[in-house]
Amino acid sequence: MTLASIQAAESKLLLHTYERNPYLFVGGHDVYLTDSEGKDYLDLLSGIGVSALGYRHPAIEKAIREQSSRLLHTSNLFYHEGTANLAVRLTEISGLDRVFFCNSGTEAWEAALKLARAYAGLSRSKGKRIGTTFLALEHSFHGRTMGSVATTHKAKYREPFAPVMPGVEFVRFNDIADLRSKFSDQICAICIEPVQGEGGIQPVSNEFFAAARELCNSTGALLLADEIQSGLGRTGEWFAYQHYGILPDVTTLAKPIAGGIPMGAMLCSEKASAAFTPGMHGTTFGGGPLACAVAIAVIDTIRETRLLEHVHQVGGYFTSQLQALAKKHDCITDVRGLGLMLGVELNSAELAAAVTAEMMKRQIIINRTSENVLRFLPPYILEQKHVDIAIATLDEILTANTAYAGTSNAGEHANG
Ligand SMILES: Cc1ncc(COP(=O)(O)O)c(C=O)c1O
Repeated sequence: MTLASIQAAESKLLLHTYERNPYLFVGGHDVYLTDSEGKDYLDLLSGIGVSALGYRHPAIEKAIREQSSRLLHTSNLFYHEGTANLAVRLTEISGLDRVFFCNSGTEAWEAALKLARAYAGLSRSKGKRIGTTFLALEHSFHGRTMGSVATTHKAKYREPFAPVMPGVEFVRFNDIADLRSKFSDQICAICIEPVQGEGGIQPVSNEFFAAARELCNSTGALLLADEIQSGLGRTGEWFAYQHYGILPDVTTLAKPIAGGIPMGAMLCSEKASAAFTPGMHGTTFGGGPLACAVAIAVIDTIRETRLLEHVHQVGGYFTSQLQALAKKHDCITDVRGLGLMLGVELNSAELAAAVTAEMMKRQIIINRTSENVLRFLPPYILEQKHVDIAIATLDEILTANTAYAGTSNAGEHANG
């Protein structure tokens, strides 16, 4: 099928939930995606933070080949070898005690919300005073299911589906006074993305994160850290909260965990885990043999090839090159992020759209979030030579920015 025939069929047959860019990808290798004409694109987005080991990584191919020749599915009625082996790794790297496996980010976040409500209920049954309200942050994004959208700040994701889950209040980002004024024994959990992704690559401040931890400690509310975009090595640590020296009670993972095979995970402390008893929560596919085998291969590869150090190093180089670009181009108003989760804020949404579209034409994939922020979530195997190509191309485009501004309406990717 050609791109045109696929576009025609999709526009008739699929729900109109995405504004796709007009490119047809048929393959990939290393940090490149390949289109139907055989052209390679330098991928600085990795499928919105998923393909951390790039494309056709031998460890992932091997895990899929071997596991698919043995066993794909058992259901959670029975044991298989993968879940415990993966849980050992996840608890080691996170500092948390127990894992619930699912299939996507939003499901992991739903599990976290349900656990927080259940834990508050358990605490009340023991005579503690604790309510059912969540505090979430302005500009947050936690997913698309009903609980997740209720804790997601942007009105366009939430309001069409009203009434969403009640009992959520929003706190101004990094505003400790607002956090303290809204916190009480009515709060069952504080929800934080340590680095907001959809919100424009915004790291939470040390002071704010510490205040949230301290407030939760004071009442027994849970601190929930959504690491679906920032977790599993993206920032150069296994979890972004490790940059802050703060351990949440619950964290969530998805995107890169199984290298492109759908998987999510909710991790929590022993204490919080007591709130779930058999039958309270579950999933048919979650923690299946294939996803577990691939996730083990991803984690072992990151460890064996010392990729976290590499993310620190190449992320630092990328940041310094972007900062140098910011000195040269007034239209860059900020460069921020951690490791290989980077954002470049421009002074106009139109320019950000035009730059994103022009990068694509020049076979470099990035996207735009929060209207005017260029987002970079490249594979962890990115090298300095790829950064140099991206920076030189961005420099050329920004130098000619008046020519490009307003030439495109390339959409902001509306999927986190
Ligand atoms: C921080 C965060 N939480 C939750 C989600 C939802 O994940 P999924 O799209 O896998 O449901 C995303 C997706 O972008 C995300 O970035």
